[in-house]
Amino acid sequence: MTFSSTEFNVVNEQQTRVLAKSLAENAERLIDNGLIIHLEGDLGAGKTTFSRYFIQALGHNGAVKSPTYTLVEPYALNKVNIYHFDLYRLADPEELEFMGIRDYFGKGNICLVEWPQRGGPLLASADLTISIKLTGDSRCFALSTSGQTGERLLEHLVT
Ligand SMILES: Nc1ncnc2c1ncn2[C@@H]1O[C@H](COP(=O)(O)OP(=O)(O)OP(=O)(O)O)[C@@H](O)[C@H]1O
Ligand SMILES: [Mg+2]
Repeated sequence: MTFSSTEFNVVNEQQTRVLAKSLAENAERLIDNGLIIHLEGDLGAGKTTFSRYFIQALGHNGAVKSPTYTLVEPYALNKVNIYHFDLYRLADPEELEFMGIRDYFGKGNICLVEWPQRGGPLLASADLTISIKLTGDSRCFALSTSGQTGERLLEHLVT
């Protein structure tokens, strides 16, 4: 298994948008086996903001609201289905079983998961984990991958 990691310093939403777009362009080419991206970071770190730009970069024109209460918001786009999860309010990881969580992790799908720590062992491991840390006004995006697909997500990122 190959591991790699890289960091980006982000000082405004525009820079989040550029990073999200570059990752989305790579992701679009790698959806054959499905793709799982975990988003870690405290409340207000910028996980939903990143997800919004990522989903819009893949062709969604409308709003992207936080899935805090619905747990998951689906986006059926031209080339890809995106499922945006927020597990913050998950009372019990077993709820994922009732949701049929495995069915989301399929071919042609991208799953973005906020608060993956709450998902427990049923949650599939990530191809890419993005960990966002807010210090003052600037955000550090730490990207780490395991496996070949994740590795390829980090190729030629333009920021
Ligand atoms: N790169 C950025 N530059 C400046 N402000 C940002 C940036 N990213 C996010 N914000 C702002 O920070 C606030 C919180 O962002 P967001 O909702 O994305 O956080 P979150 O990590 O999803 O939080 P939660 O854990 O509650 O879901 C929003 O007001 C958003 O506009
Ligand atoms: Mg959020």
